[in-house]
Amino acid sequence: MKKNLISISLVTIGVLMASASVHAQTTLKESFKDDFLVGVALNESQFTGSNAREAALARAQFNSISPENVLKWESVHPEPDRYNFGPVDSYVEFGLKNNMVIIGHNLIWHQQTPKWVFQDDKGNPISRDALLERMRNHILTVVGRYKGKVGGWDVVNEALNEDGTLRQSPWEKIIGDDYLLKAYQFAKEADPNVQLYYNDYSLENASKREGAIALVKKLQAAGIPIAGVGLQGHYNLTWPTTNQLDETIKAFSKLGVKVMVTELDMDVLPPATRSQAAEVSMNFALRAELNPYTNGLPASVQQNLANRYADLFKVFVANRGVVARVTFWGVTDADSWRNDWPVKGRTAYPLLFNRDCRPKPAFDAVIKTSGHL
Ligand code: G3I
Repeated sequence: MKKNLISISLVTIGVLMASASVHAQTTLKESFKDDFLVGVALNESQFTGSNAREAALARAQFNSISPENVLKWESVHPEPDRYNFGPVDSYVEFGLKNNMVIIGHNLIWHQQTPKWVFQDDKGNPISRDALLERMRNHILTVVGRYKGKVGGWDVVNEALNEDGTLRQSPWEKIIGDDYLLKAYQFAKEADPNVQLYYNDYSLENASKREGAIALVKKLQAAGIPIAGVGLQGHYNLTWPTTNQLDETIKAFSKLGVKVMVTELDMDVLPPATRSQAAEVSMNFALRAELNPYTNGLPASVQQNLANRYADLFKVFVANRGVVARVTFWGVTDADSWRNDWPVKGRTAYPLLFNRDCRPKPAFDAVIKTSGHL
């Protein structure tokens, strides 16, 4: 009896050690190397190495990076005659040092663009030509600086409304609908060899997807070699369905473009709104019932998260060849924007690594879909 107990516990220890060594050896980038790149969005503390643990985790697990904020207009070009390239240079250096595919996010967006971009000295709206000139200078300067280093750019981000029509952004109002075409032309002029992407959320919904398809066709007809469409991938446990996702990937593939999942994370918290839009301006008051897991995620929800991630990765793997990259929007749960959106100050669990940089059950579930566990 005693002998049996000893051998059972030896087996248990063996299993635990084996699983620990699986974690030590298994990486996302290695597991999916025949399928697609696996990327991650980095903040400044990670690519400068001041958060050494998260920097090491990013180096170990991922082979592509996106800048969470430092390449947005307000950060890289805060004043008319001042560019803030320091943080971007560190970001690019991190990627080059670690042989990662470096993504540029983003050039033209309605958010995080300073007011001065659209105004003259007196605060009046500038003309179409003047705005086009500003847009061209910005794109040529930023893309030009990282030519040959950045592999692909989100040229225009979130240009569509949920019904598939063009968003009436300041870009659209001042320049007109062809602001998109111009942005892509300037990016191509700045670096003829770099990949150019269109990036948006909720493209899994048919109406918005149709708008994106029309947009890609229009760009292609005008001679823009658009390389890919980014599905941001700010998902939850029920949306989108695996069918919606599969249909969406296949619909873009028919246009001859790659699909990238560019900002993947998973909401497990109670919804504060029925909208699926990842619209950054949404902000709802914090209420206790919207923040139920401040002391940890219950095992059942942890399992739902793992199953859900596995279901999505099965769709990505089945569409390998079209899906060129899957990028997570953050390294660990601790640094995800989801903790502050659409409600500030919640405890969110959207990623594969916990606040202690350890892999969650969802990590194993994802690796399994590659056939490597
Ligand atoms: O850096 C300032 C800091 O100096 C200041 O003290 C602090 C006070 O609020 O704000 C800091 O800036 C914040 C920045 O993140 C860095 O943490 C901004 O307020 C905040 O709005 C900004 O949020 C980012 C958001 O985009 C808007 O740019 C999120 O981190 C980022 O994850 C999110 O990413 C977007 C994608 O670019 C596009 N798709 C949706 C996605 C999620 O919203």
